[in-house]
Amino acid sequence: MTDLAYLVDVSPGTGTLPPRAWPPGSDTARLSLNGSWRFRLTPHAGADTDFAADGYDASAWGELRVPGHWVLQGHGAPAYTNVLYPFPVDPPFVPTENPTGDHLRVFDLPPDWPAGGEAVLRFDGVESCARVWLNGTELGEFKGSRLPHEFAVAPLLRERGNVLAVRVHQWSSGSYLEDQDQWWLPGIFRDVTLLHRPEGAVRDHFVHASYDHESGEGTLRVDCEPAGRVLVPELGIDTATGEGVTVPVEPWSAEQPRLYEGELVTAGERVRLRVGFRTVRVEDGLIKANGRALLFRGVNRHEFHPETGRALDPETMREDVLLMKRHNINAVRTSHYPPHPVFLDLCDELGLWVIDECDLETHGFHAVDWRGNPVADPRWTPALLDRAARMVERDKNHPSVVIWSLGNECGTGEGLTAMAAWIRERDPSRPIHYEGDLSCKDTDFYSRMYADHAEVAAIGRGEEQPLPDAESDARRRAMPFLQCEYAHAMGNGPGGLAEYQELFETYPRLQGGFVWEWIDHGLAHPEYGYAYGGDFGEELHDGNFVCDGLLFPDRTPSPGLLDFKSVIQPVRMDGDGRDGVVRVRNLYDFADLSHLEFTWSYEKDGVTVREGVLDVPAVPAGESAEVRLPAPPRRDPDAETQWTLRARLAKETAWAERGHVVAWAQLPVEGGMQLPDPGGAAPVREGGLITLGAGTFDARTGTLLAVGGVPVNGFGLDVWRAPTDNDNGMSWATGSSVAARWRALGLDRMQHRVDAVESAPDALTVRTRVAPAASDLALRTTYRWISNGIRLALDVLVEPEGDWTVPLPRLGVRLGLPVAYDRVSWFGAGPGEAYPDTGAAAMLGVWSADVAGLQTPYVRPQENGARADARWLELTDGQRCFKVAGAGFSFTARPWSTADLDAAQHRPDLVAGDTLWLHLDARRQGIGSESCGPGVLPEHQLKVGDQRHGFSFQFTVREGDA
Ligand code: GAL
Repeated sequence: MTDLAYLVDVSPGTGTLPPRAWPPGSDTARLSLNGSWRFRLTPHAGADTDFAADGYDASAWGELRVPGHWVLQGHGAPAYTNVLYPFPVDPPFVPTENPTGDHLRVFDLPPDWPAGGEAVLRFDGVESCARVWLNGTELGEFKGSRLPHEFAVAPLLRERGNVLAVRVHQWSSGSYLEDQDQWWLPGIFRDVTLLHRPEGAVRDHFVHASYDHESGEGTLRVDCEPAGRVLVPELGIDTATGEGVTVPVEPWSAEQPRLYEGELVTAGERVRLRVGFRTVRVEDGLIKANGRALLFRGVNRHEFHPETGRALDPETMREDVLLMKRHNINAVRTSHYPPHPVFLDLCDELGLWVIDECDLETHGFHAVDWRGNPVADPRWTPALLDRAARMVERDKNHPSVVIWSLGNECGTGEGLTAMAAWIRERDPSRPIHYEGDLSCKDTDFYSRMYADHAEVAAIGRGEEQPLPDAESDARRRAMPFLQCEYAHAMGNGPGGLAEYQELFETYPRLQGGFVWEWIDHGLAHPEYGYAYGGDFGEELHDGNFVCDGLLFPDRTPSPGLLDFKSVIQPVRMDGDGRDGVVRVRNLYDFADLSHLEFTWSYEKDGVTVREGVLDVPAVPAGESAEVRLPAPPRRDPDAETQWTLRARLAKETAWAERGHVVAWAQLPVEGGMQLPDPGGAAPVREGGLITLGAGTFDARTGTLLAVGGVPVNGFGLDVWRAPTDNDNGMSWATGSSVAARWRALGLDRMQHRVDAVESAPDALTVRTRVAPAASDLALRTTYRWISNGIRLALDVLVEPEGDWTVPLPRLGVRLGLPVAYDRVSWFGAGPGEAYPDTGAAAMLGVWSADVAGLQTPYVRPQENGARADARWLELTDGQRCFKVAGAGFSFTARPWSTADLDAAQHRPDLVAGDTLWLHLDARRQGIGSESCGPGVLPEHQLKVGDQRHGFSFQFTVREGDA
């Protein structure tokens, strides 16, 4: 077949072996062919294949790291589209411009390579297709980028100088099936291995390990071809393959991932077994494991590394699992393709429930009203079945895999039905997921993405919109519900997580969800820091929609991940801090609380004054207990007091150290001081200035110019923020984004007109009207200043004029200080950022940071870094300390203006100036997740309406450090 014919062929490849189980370990010889390969890129398919011939001289070619994507190694460029195909939709045809990577590797067999037997050449992942030759002989070709393919090669092998040639095309018919929302990254991106297969080696094996929660017994049966023996010494099992053995066992769960080490022994091979006994089924409308209903606290994980794309090393995969475990995540959907098999080994070992999803998405057909969708065209069905089989066969022995998913966003069609039927026949032990078909005819779940809170609540109550067909409707009503994607973690956010979690914990039918998504796919870039769509000159692209993860590209947790950890904590402690009774609720599905130790601390104005251990019994899963706190120390009416309770790991685990905090809560005891009334000083006008105690003002405009000798500039009401990705998201209700409405109104260009500067014996009052050009909407703003010579106190009154239907981004004041005031401490929520509907991770306490550390490095710059609920805030330049006091205000401090932040496209665009912009907000608009999901819930919107809004701050300057 010529290049061009196989490229557009829709049937599965030729020459490959039937798929089989991935062995977690074997005693047979293997040779890794990862490493440096010779590489040549040509712009089209169809070039001569003479490079595959024995003796071809490739010394003029470059080198390429395998596994790897050539576009990330200096050959061509990556491209990002979400839904749209970056080529004309004309299946199965592909563009003539089809970057083609020829890969060559010459290898010797190791001296101890065994004689005889078979040998298999294995490719774990090649995008988008490969045509393979060994020593000049063509082995075949395959598609299915994130699936394994093997060839039998023994007769072709020689001891020395084997020439392995692989031609990879960026585009093939398979690309139509791989339209996932991610970078297009061609190449041999997973391992290449030569495996010795001795006579009598395992051809395939299927581990069936179920658990009967009533008897506490597990049943193990390993089917194997050829037959052999199954040994699990710890359980005393030594039996023939194909024979079931029932013994008392500890079950496997994500919470308690009990694995039994075993061995499968055939005439030619010993294969490692890691047996986890568990039974998963959908019954009584719920997904249960070992008889108990599950609640998924999940994430969607794409494979991603900012330097190597989808070529991940085992350390990175382990880091992902560890980070998930440490953030209370118990489930992962492998969106939208089977991951590297090592990732699933780690899920078995460390404990995560996995939805294993097939490498299938045809979302781009949406743009042509689904005409020609492969999923609905029987010619493609064999290719779909091949993909299903390669996933199921490879991954069937993982206890962590509890659900098979047919793919993502493929519309509907008979191809999906065929896949589901095949899977049910081959592996009836696991339920099936697919989101894209509302009738749910091929699935065991009612699954949705981005349904808003109200709809999720309705589904929880069983009051969803009925399906037209009564039979389908009845079937779907009996199904458990999953949000396979929700809480779009793009940029600042997601907001509204806690409200979703409350629903999941309220209605049994709602068995949790999977946040979209795990990590930002920002590619390391010398100029941009991290690049996103469009940064490589793509003709079509979706910008920074590819950066929507809970981790930043370098795997630093974003505030969203920290919030998620708090929102989904598996233990809740609530009660009244004054009566000292705490209810401890165990929200685990299996574990009791004996693995945790609890501590309390008693804090006064954010500082711990006493601490101790809290005795909590081993409350069983799903139950709760009341415990009593010690008697609080003596009352102090002027102080704000609270308890902080923490549940920590009592012992080191495989994923975290002893003492790791799993859950926490704060219970207020008594409120703090009121702001004192610092009046007394009279305004004094001199030259162009007015002095009022500690404050200096411009006499003409009434603008604050200095506090206690520290210069202030740009003082005034502030309502603008640099829109977040969620602010920029299109609202289904209004057909535009809230940011577009803000800009149309002119909130980014408010004009401040001074109407009066009034001196009274004890106050300075400045009356202004703040309004955008071309509008008659306005915020009449009155600043009233008083001072006792040390403190300068401000009352702001905002009176809206006109019909303010759009919520404001923020309501507060802004002022510029010298940039040297760059060390900050505050008593408030921290240490991280918090907005009205985010910040579950922020605790009340006394925190400090430098200004650089207050910035959250969202890949595309936007509003970030606000610290909430501050009682006071101090900034110092090392000589003097500028202090702000208020009643639960929030602040941001940045060495650039909001306009700079708004204009920046990448982090390096933000350059510190000589002003520190301090924003002090009384109220703020929430964050929501409208970049792909619901907007800000009504209770978190900053609606001004026609009400008056008042707020106050006090400023002081003193000598010395903070
Ligand atoms: C979903 C899709 C994901 C991703 C997400 C938005 O529709 O399944 O792959 O595109 O939206 O980021």
